[in-house]
Amino acid sequence: MEIDRKTFLGSLGGADAINQMDSEARADALEHQMLSDLNRAVVKKQNGDQDESKRETKKYPTAAEVENQIETRTFRQGAGFLIVPRTRGNVTKLPPMPPNPTLFDFFKLRFTDTSNHVLQSANLAMKNGMSEEIILACMLHDVVQEIIRTDHGWWGAQLFEPYVSERVVFAIRYHQALRYYPDPSVGYEYPDMYRELFGSDYVPPPYIEATYQAVRKHKWYMDARLVTVNDLYAFDPNAVVTIDPFIDIIGRHFKQPKEGLGEDGSPVAHMWRTIARPDRPL
Ligand SMILES: [Fe+2]
Ligand SMILES: [Fe+2]
Repeated sequence: MEIDRKTFLGSLGGADAINQMDSEARADALEHQMLSDLNRAVVKKQNGDQDESKRETKKYPTAAEVENQIETRTFRQGAGFLIVPRTRGNVTKLPPMPPNPTLFDFFKLRFTDTSNHVLQSANLAMKNGMSEEIILACMLHDVVQEIIRTDHGWWGAQLFEPYVSERVVFAIRYHQALRYYPDPSVGYEYPDMYRELFGSDYVPPPYIEATYQAVRKHKWYMDARLVTVNDLYAFDPNAVVTIDPFIDIIGRHFKQPKEGLGEDGSPVAHMWRTIARPDRPL
C-alpha cells in the first residue's frame, strides 16, 4: 500500500516537527497512518466514494499533535483505538458482548480498528504458505492496540499467553522490535517507506536494539521474523478479508476458555474484560 508522502509529512507538522520526534514516535506515526489509510480504503470500498474527504479529515488525528503539541491534547498516543477513538465527537455505545465471549466475538464486536489489518496480514501469510502458527500470530499481532499501543508487542503477547503456544506468543512479542531490522534471507528489507519518509538517520531506541540482538540469536527468531514479513507493507488496500478462512486454524491452535475470554479467571482476564467493557469508569 502506498501513502502520499507529501500529505503524510504535512500531517506530521512538516520537517521541523518531524525532527523533534524520536524514531519510535515516527514509526508509530507511520504505522498509524497506514492503519488509518487501510481502514479508510475498506470503508471507501464498502460505502462508495462519496464524502471521502470529509471522512478523512474527521476521523484521524495527526502525529504532530501527539509529539509536538502534547500539552494541547487531552489524551496520549499510547491509548488504544477502542479506549480513545481517533475521531472527533462523542463515542457511541458499543454492542453488548454475548455470554462466554469467544475470540470471534471480540473480532466482530471490539477489534474495530485493527481487524482489517491483522486479517490481511494473516491472509498474506496463508497465501505465502506459512505454518498455521505463523498465520495465527499474524492474525493476533496488533489487536491489543485496541486498548494500548505503547510496546504493543509485549502487551499483545501477554494478552494471548494463556491461549496459544509459546511460539505464537514469542512471535507476537517480538514482531514489534524486528520490524526495524532487515533480513535478506527471507526478503525482509528495512522498509523503503521509512527511509523515504523519515530520512536515513532513523535509529531505533536502545531497548529495541537490545531486544533485536537477543531475538536474533533465539531458536524461534524466524517465527517473529515471519510476522514482520507478512505485516504491513505489501497489502492491497482494496481487499476486504474476513475471519472465515481462519476458523479451522483458530480451532486447532487457540484454546478458547469455555467460560469466555475475560470470564475464565486467567492472569489476563482483566485485559479481556477491559476490551469488552471499555466504558466502565473503574
Ligand atoms: Fe505491530
Ligand atoms: Fe502490523
